[in-house]
Amino acid sequence: MKKIALTGIKPTGAPHIGNYLGAIQPALELAKTHDALYFIADYHALTTVKDRSLLKEQIYSLAATWLASGLDPEKVTFYRQSDIPEVFELTWILSCMTSKGLLNRAHAYKAAVDANTEAGVDPDSGVDCGLFYYPILMAADILLFSCHVVPVGQDQKQHLEITRDIAQAFNQTFGKVLTLPEPLIQENVKTIPGIDGRKMSKSYKNEIPLFTTPKNLKKRINQIVTDSKEVNEPKDPDKCNLFSIYSHFAPADAIVETRNRYLSGGLGYGELKSELFDLVDAFVAEGRSRYDELMADRKQIDQILKEGAEKARSIAKPLLQKVRESIGVQ
Ligand code: ADP
Ligand code: TRP
Repeated sequence: MKKIALTGIKPTGAPHIGNYLGAIQPALELAKTHDALYFIADYHALTTVKDRSLLKEQIYSLAATWLASGLDPEKVTFYRQSDIPEVFELTWILSCMTSKGLLNRAHAYKAAVDANTEAGVDPDSGVDCGLFYYPILMAADILLFSCHVVPVGQDQKQHLEITRDIAQAFNQTFGKVLTLPEPLIQENVKTIPGIDGRKMSKSYKNEIPLFTTPKNLKKRINQIVTDSKEVNEPKDPDKCNLFSIYSHFAPADAIVETRNRYLSGGLGYGELKSELFDLVDAFVAEGRSRYDELMADRKQIDQILKEGAEKARSIAKPLLQKVRESIGVQ
């Protein structure tokens, strides 16, 4: 029996090449050896996205990105969280197993409280209950599918610990019904720098989008920040984020050659940016045309997600039934 891998992705903005190399590609690799359930965490996004048309657009864009990146919906159960009502019933049940103090210590909530305290306003000012409950909804996403591993970024580790705490509390009270998941934090995945050299991230607005027009891609690559050394001056490749991004796309021999040209002088940043554009453009070309095709035919996306939700619910329903029986409501 294959182990079950599950992860949720929030539709909070166009995925970038850091997301692709750091999350999408490793998750698709993992799906080769696991029974994978990957879903769009749209109700988690509601904690920050409160614009109807934006949320809708981002859900489609995220779904199209994963499908265009090679997710095969025949092999991976791919669905939208909001299509699984069982998640929300389980959320309530789990909330009755969760001490409030555990949520008070969750990073995102704590950061909001700390910022308010610092500003001298009410600690809960501007905090909605969705942000506070976020970890319980995530625990329900995970525990409903009895999964074994959850591939996530380092920042989600605490949420997995909370999920395990909640599952343990439930099992101690009602018997061993829930499976304790393990986080899978890919240590060997490199952090891709953005155009300003900091970690590529939507929050820094320094990202290179994954599936955008060639024109836009070129413009963005040309915005990669470098020092102002002349073509003939020797340069340090290890202090240059252009070189670092380039190294994620170029073949090994080209990387060695470019490194030497940095050290000896004679390489212009404009020339390397143009080479990088060609590499990234070739890398994304096939996915981009599939992405454009899907975005132009959203019914196709709806159909895929609907079928995914049916498969997911066929796993969720019996587990929820077991939970109901174990707590005594049925
Ligand atoms: P962002 O920082 O742009 O908001 P997220 O926090 O939504 O991105 O990250 C989604 C996934 O993509 C996570 O698994 C995260 O580890 C991965 N990821 C994000 N940025 C990078 C990056 N610059 N390099 C590698 N992986 C990344
Ligand atoms: N909180 C996760 C994030 O911000 C998204 C998420 C929601 C998730 N539910 C999940 C991840 C369940 C893994 C498993 O990235």
